[in-house]
Amino acid sequence: METAEIRRRFVSHFEQNGHTAVPSASLLLDDPNLLFVNAGMVPFKPYFLGQETPPYNRAVSIQKCVRTPDIEDVGKTTRHGTFFEMCGNFSFGDYFKEEAIRLGWELVTKSQADGGFGLEESRLWPSVLDGDDEALALWTKVTGLSEDRIVKLGPKENYWSMGVPGPGGPCSEILYDRGPEYGPDGEFATTSRTSMPTELEDRYLEIWNLVFMQDELSAVRSKEDFDIAGSLPKKNIDTGMGLERVAYLLQGKQNMYEIDVMFPVIEKAQELTGKKYGANHEDDVRFRVIADHVRSSMMLIADGVTPGNEARGYVLRRLLRRAVRSVRLLGYDDHALPELLPVSQGLMKPGYPELEAEWARIQRVAYAEEEAFRKTLQAGTQIFDLAAGEVKASGQTRLEGAKAFALHDTYGFPIDLTLEMAAEQGLSVDEEGFRRLMAEQRERAKADAKAKKGQHADTSVYRGILDANGPTEWLAYETLATESRPLALLSGGKETSVLGNGEVGELVLDRTPFYAESGGQVADAGIIEFDGGRLEVLDVQRPVRGLVVHQVRVVDGEFHPTVGGHALHAQVDPEWRTGARQAHSGTHVVHAALREVLGPSALQSGSYNRPGYLRLDFGWTQSLTEQQIRDIEHISNAALRADLPVGWEYMTLTEAKDAGAIALFGETYDDQKVRVVEIGGPWSRELCGGTHVDRSSQIGTVVVTGEASVGSGSRRVEALVGIEGFDYLARERDVVAQLTGLLKTQPGDLVGRVEEMVERLRVSEKELERARLTQLLAAAGEIAAGAKDLGGIQVVAHRIDGAGGGDVRTLALDIRGRLPGDAPGAVVVIGAADGKVSVVAAVNDQARERGISANELVRAVGPLVGGKGGGKDDVAQGGGSDASRIDEALALVEAEVVRRAAS
Ligand code: ALA
Repeated sequence: METAEIRRRFVSHFEQNGHTAVPSASLLLDDPNLLFVNAGMVPFKPYFLGQETPPYNRAVSIQKCVRTPDIEDVGKTTRHGTFFEMCGNFSFGDYFKEEAIRLGWELVTKSQADGGFGLEESRLWPSVLDGDDEALALWTKVTGLSEDRIVKLGPKENYWSMGVPGPGGPCSEILYDRGPEYGPDGEFATTSRTSMPTELEDRYLEIWNLVFMQDELSAVRSKEDFDIAGSLPKKNIDTGMGLERVAYLLQGKQNMYEIDVMFPVIEKAQELTGKKYGANHEDDVRFRVIADHVRSSMMLIADGVTPGNEARGYVLRRLLRRAVRSVRLLGYDDHALPELLPVSQGLMKPGYPELEAEWARIQRVAYAEEEAFRKTLQAGTQIFDLAAGEVKASGQTRLEGAKAFALHDTYGFPIDLTLEMAAEQGLSVDEEGFRRLMAEQRERAKADAKAKKGQHADTSVYRGILDANGPTEWLAYETLATESRPLALLSGGKETSVLGNGEVGELVLDRTPFYAESGGQVADAGIIEFDGGRLEVLDVQRPVRGLVVHQVRVVDGEFHPTVGGHALHAQVDPEWRTGARQAHSGTHVVHAALREVLGPSALQSGSYNRPGYLRLDFGWTQSLTEQQIRDIEHISNAALRADLPVGWEYMTLTEAKDAGAIALFGETYDDQKVRVVEIGGPWSRELCGGTHVDRSSQIGTVVVTGEASVGSGSRRVEALVGIEGFDYLARERDVVAQLTGLLKTQPGDLVGRVEEMVERLRVSEKELERARLTQLLAAAGEIAAGAKDLGGIQVVAHRIDGAGGGDVRTLALDIRGRLPGDAPGAVVVIGAADGKVSVVAAVNDQARERGISANELVRAVGPLVGGKGGGKDDVAQGGGSDASRIDEALALVEAEVVRRAAS
C-alpha cells in the first residue's frame, strides 16, 4: 500500500468518525522550548492546556515532524528518521480512553478491502502503563484479547510528555510483532517490565502511541522523572501513528528508508556512486543517511530555515553536510544535491504543495550550502593536516577534542570525517572531549532559542494570572492611552505588592494600549502614571497568548498597586508609535519592492523594525547589484509618493491565502481569524499583527543603507524611514559639502576631481617606484666590485635594510650579472623591512660547478634568521622573522662557500 494511500485512509477513517481534518502546521511553530514541531499534538498545545477554545472537539492530522537528537542513529536502526510524518487523532475534552482504543484498533485491524490496514490481530500487542488497570480492562473489552496479550510497561515507555513542561499523560502503544527473525521468542506480555528489552525493540515495532492526556507537567527531568503540577482542565486524547513505520510493514520492507517515498533517492545515489545498496552495512547506513537527510533538509528549507551556526540553522547545516559527506564516502565527488534533491521533491510534493511553490528557493539554498561545504572540505583538509602534523611532531598519537571541535565549529568538519582522516594517519581523536564541547554548544543553541523569548521560559506564573483574570483587553490598534487597573505585579518572577523607586518589575493591567513585541516590531515605549508617581515602560511581551506583560521601572515615587485598586494612566509615547508605524509599514513596502525586483521567490524569512529603522532577511543566494538596490529603493519611494491607502481586515487563513496574502514562515496563525494588512490593494498583502500608518506617504522616505549576507542562502537589506531617513541623507549631504569645500569644486564635479586625484596618485607612486629601483641598482655595481675572493670564488654577502623580497631578489640577480663573466661567483643578499627578513641567493654556472648551490646557501642561513626557504641551485629565496642575526647569517654564507669550495 502506497504511503499516500495510508495517509488517505487514516484521515478518512477519522473524518467518518466526526473528526475535522486539519492541515499540517509549519515545522517552525513558535515555541521557546522546541526547535521544531516534533509531534502531531504540538499545534494543538493551547487547546490541551485550556489556553484557547478549540473550534472542534475532534481533529485528525498528518503532521510533518523533525526530531534530531537521534541523528547519529539514522540508518543504523530500522526506524530512526529525522523527518517523519505523524498521523494523529485528537480529542479535546470529548472522547477518552475507550473510544481512542476502539478507533485505533478498528483502523489497524479492519481488512484492506474495507478501507483499513488489515494487520493480523495475532501479531498485534497493545501495551499499557503498568498500573493503568482501566486501560488494561478497556483493551480486553474492546479487542477481545486476553490479559496476557497486553504488555505492561513502566513510565519510560508508557508515559508520554513533550520532554518539557506542558501536557502529558499515561499512554498505550500498539506494537507489531515482526516475527522470530527479528528477536527472541518468549513470554512477552505476562510480566510487568520497566521498559522494553533492547533485544525486542526490532521485533516488536511500536506503530501507534495513544496518549491519554490528562496531566499538566511543571518539570520533566527524564522520561521517568517528572513533576505533575495538576490535572488539565479536561481529559484529552493525543495519538501518533508513525506513517513511515506502517508504510514499511504494509510495503513488506525491512525499514523506513526503503518505502516508496524514500527509496528512489537511494536508487539515485546508487547510480551516482556505482555502489550497491545491500552489499555491506557501512555503505547501507550511508545510503539511508542520504535518503533521510536529503528529505529532512528539503522540508526544513521549504518551511523557511536557512543553514547557519545556531539553533535551527545549525541543524539544517548538519543535515545537508552529512548528506553530502555520505555521498562522498560512497565515492561520488561531484555536486550531489542537484541530483538527489529533485528525486525527493518529486516523491514528497503530492502531499506538500509548498515543495512545488518554493522549489526555486529550496534548490538555491541547498545547492549554495553544498558549494560552501565543498570549499570547507578543501580548507579544512589543510587545517586538519597541519593539526595532525603537530600531534605527530610532538610525539603524540591523539588529536585533542578541542582541535576536533574547532575543525567542526570553524570549518564545519563533521566528526566522522575527522575520525576517519585521523585513523588514516594512525591517530586517535579525543572523542569524549569533542562531545563535551559539542554538548556545551548545543546547550548554547537551546539557550539562544529561549533567550529569544525573554525570561519567560517558565510560563506557569503568567498562566495563573491569565486564569484568574482572563485575557488582557488589548487596545493598541484603537488608542494610545487608557485608564487601566493593575492586576498583578511581579518582581524577579514572583508576585509582589511594592516596587521601590528605581526598581524594575513586571506589571499586568486589565487593559493596555501598549504594543507587545511581535512579528518583528519592537514593543512600544511610554509611561504608566499612578497616584504619586510614574513608571517607565521598558519592554512589553506576551509570554502566554492573551496576556500582555509590561516590564516597568519606577522613575518617580514608590509603586503600591493595591490589586484591583486605583486607576492608572497608561500612555504610549506618540512619537515612538509614529516611528514604529512608519518602520513596520516601511518593511512591507520594501518587501513588496524586493519581490518586484527579484521575483516572487525572494521571500522574507525574518524582519525587525523599530522607529526609524528596519531590516528584512530573505532567502537569496547572490549579493544584490547596485542597480537592484537602487530599483528597490526607487520602487519603495514611488509607492510612498503614490499615497497608497493602508488597510487591514480579519479573514480566515484560507481566504487570506486565496487573496494572495503572504504568510511568513515560523509565524503561528490562528485559522479562525488572521489579520491581513494591505498597502495599495494587492500590491502588498501580508498576514501581520503590527501597527501601521494610514497612508503610505506617512512613511516619509525609504533609504536603503545596506545589503549583506547573513549565512548561506539568506541576505539582509537594511533601511531607514521617516526622519531618520532624512537625517541620514542630510549627513551624506554634509560630507559632500565638506569635500567640495576641501577640493574647491562643485558637487557635480566632485567625482571627476577625485578620480583625477586618484589617477595622479597612482602615476606618482609608479614614478617613485621607478626612482627607488634605479637607486637600488645604482648601488649594484659598487657592491659587485666589492666581491671577496674566497677559495677562488667571487663572493658577495650583502645586507640591505629597508628592502623587501622583490627588491632583494632584483638586487641579487643584478649583482650576479655584474660579477666577472668567467669567474665562479655567488651572491647572497639579505634584506630586512617591517620585521620581515628576506634572503636571496644567486649563484652562477661556474660556481655551481665548484659545488656551490643557491638552495643550500639559503637553507644554511634560514635557521639563523628564524625562517626557512629554498629553491633551485642557481637562484633560491627564503624568509624569516629575526633580523637581529643577519650579520651572523652573512658571515655564515662566507664560511659555507669556503667550506664547500674546499671539499
Ligand atoms: N504525542 C504522542 C507521540 O509523539 C502521540 O508519541
